[in-house]
Amino acid sequence: MASLSAIGLMSGTSYDGVDVALINTDGEEIGRLGPTLYRPYDEDERAVLRQAMAAAANLAERTARPGLLADAEALVTQSHAEAVEAFLAANGMAAGDIGVVGFHGQTVLHDPDRRLTVQLGDGNALASRLGIPVVYDFRAADVAAGGQGAPFVPVFHRAMVRLLDEHRPVAVLNIGGVANLTYIDETAELIACDLGPGNALIDDFMRLRTGSPHDSEGRAAAAGRVDEAAIAHILAHPFFGKPPPKSLDRNAFHQWIAADAKLAGKSLEDGAATLTALTAAAIARAIALLPRPPASFIVAGGGIRNPVLMRMLAERVAPARVKTADAVGWAADSLEAQGFAYLAVRSLNGLPLSFPGTTGVPQPMTGGVLARP
Ligand SMILES: Nc1ncnc2c1ncn2[C@@H]1O[C@H](COP(=O)(O)OP(=O)(O)O)[C@@H](O)[C@H]1O
Ligand SMILES: [Mg+2]
Repeated sequence: MASLSAIGLMSGTSYDGVDVALINTDGEEIGRLGPTLYRPYDEDERAVLRQAMAAAANLAERTARPGLLADAEALVTQSHAEAVEAFLAANGMAAGDIGVVGFHGQTVLHDPDRRLTVQLGDGNALASRLGIPVVYDFRAADVAAGGQGAPFVPVFHRAMVRLLDEHRPVAVLNIGGVANLTYIDETAELIACDLGPGNALIDDFMRLRTGSPHDSEGRAAAAGRVDEAAIAHILAHPFFGKPPPKSLDRNAFHQWIAADAKLAGKSLEDGAATLTALTAAAIARAIALLPRPPASFIVAGGGIRNPVLMRMLAERVAPARVKTADAVGWAADSLEAQGFAYLAVRSLNGLPLSFPGTTGVPQPMTGGVLARP
């Protein structure tokens, strides 16, 4: 099949901003990895998205956009359109140079038990505005078929790892709002799952206590003490012992940082240290659920900007080696966006996006909805 220039757009559960990445691919092999761009949300935009997530908790129908959700969807579409336009301008490209855009949208609700996953973002509006075909709504078909609807980038991770000379098994770890892992061995089928809170609980705790959106460089955590008993208590939750596949809503464990919870009595520093260690421990906990312990973890996502988290992770997964995606020549901040560019081309070609071992869907399943300009 012919190779396309595909743009991927990702706005993860951290709702920090829109990542844009260009790759060339036929949906199987990865060709050139192109430039990337990040368009952060401003404070007002974040506030709207935060309210949209709260409002979406009660949705019963995935296409319904009551109240604030319609405005939030318009914001998502608009900010992504701006991001693509800025990306094209920055790289001297025109719409006609791009074969397809993979538009993930903003997840505001993820509840596969109710067969419900909701990503805000109007694919038709984006396609018309950009004059480029857009593939969107990647997760819906999987969830409708009984899959977890997440994680979705494992098939891309596998294609990327094929290009590396790394000892198997390799785990590709993405630490976004939620942390997820793809396990890649010589022969075995693709295995993947969400692992637990990535940055989401740390971010929410910091916002509650200080108003800042995250624990910059892990400074609060660095000054605190880890409450190992609290971590052991939280890890006793059945989610962490469940074998893959499994997925998590970003707010699944939100009650742990609520006013009446264990962390409430802790100082800012001790709370941040404990939540950071929890993220690392939840990742390490998953090793026992895999066929073999990974020889290395290749780590992407905003979590790599938190050196305390990276240190705790290295300690807890040893003797496995921890490498950042950048260190193996990838773009750690843009890996998910590249993944959705890859998935868009796979969708155009009718190739599977999700697999029994990644989302628990009964058969390998394609997905995504094509909007033509
Ligand atoms: N300088 C930093 N220090 C600490 N954490 C950071 C820093 N930069 C980004 N992060 C973390 O990374 C998150 C964004 O990561 P990202 O991979 O974009 O997640 P998502 O895919 O959920 O949007 C932020 O919300 C924050 O928790
Ligand atoms: Mg992000």
